[in-house]
Amino acid sequence: MSEQPILRVQSVSKRFGGVHALENVSVDLFPGEVLALAGDNGAGKSTLIKVISGVHRPDEGKISYDGAEVTFENPQKAREQGIETIYQDLALADNLDVGANVFLGREPMKRVLGLPVLDRKKMRTEAAEALRVLDIRINRFDLPLRSMSGGQRQAVAIGRAIHWNAKVLIMDEPTAALGVPEQRKVIALIKSLKQSGVGVIFISHNLVDIFAVSDRIVVLRRGQKVGEAATQATNSDEIVRWMVGG
Ligand SMILES: Nc1ncnc2c1ncn2[C@@H]1O[C@H](COP(=O)(O)OP(=O)(O)O)[C@@H](O)[C@H]1O
Ligand SMILES: [Mg+2]
Repeated sequence: MSEQPILRVQSVSKRFGGVHALENVSVDLFPGEVLALAGDNGAGKSTLIKVISGVHRPDEGKISYDGAEVTFENPQKAREQGIETIYQDLALADNLDVGANVFLGREPMKRVLGLPVLDRKKMRTEAAEALRVLDIRINRFDLPLRSMSGGQRQAVAIGRAIHWNAKVLIMDEPTAALGVPEQRKVIALIKSLKQSGVGVIFISHNLVDIFAVSDRIVVLRRGQKVGEAATQATNSDEIVRWMVGG
């Protein structure tokens, strides 16, 4: 693991009307590290990653990426800089095929008779390469995503992050909607991302997954960071105690 954090969240607060969704939260993420974010519903986990990825602006505090303070106007800007976020709803387009999803918003164009058209062949070839590297088996790249399983869809989202050389990958409840074999596959994918030096922030309710894959665990409760520990130095009981408080 490297000494310099790839991402620093410093004293960030975010309010929605009277709700303190985040209060003075600081978190570091290192390259090749998997950081698990735990906490009950409404603890502020999704808000924290949305503040990082440019969906929300923090009211207070700052975010640094790759050594410099940043303000992302929107998630597309964060993505262009190498922060790829897979939201709870996956943000994949069901009616498009795998290639189109890997390139969503960044489609390669070619010219036919002088007119710009989508280069579908290039999209499929490069998407296939991205998924091959990840050891994800998808036989048909021309089928719409809606015909695929939850695990395959998650894999496509991860493949998209790899293809665009993300330095930080943020995943909000990636295994929540999956069956057990697919959960295992996603956990394996997170481990391989870690091997390639990507910093991963992984939100989960599932303590088994958290302990299987993370290096460090941060616990939020009612918008505050109430606990942080190296995964090997803590256990489920302690994490649950932090989550519920009292
Ligand atoms: N866009 C929003 N508008 C108003 N309130 C919000 C918004 N997003 C989140 N909240 C509130 O902020 C708090 C934290 O929510 P969230 O970050 O989604 O928690 P978690 O992901 O840990 O379940 C909750 O009380 C939630 O209702
Ligand atoms: Mg959430």
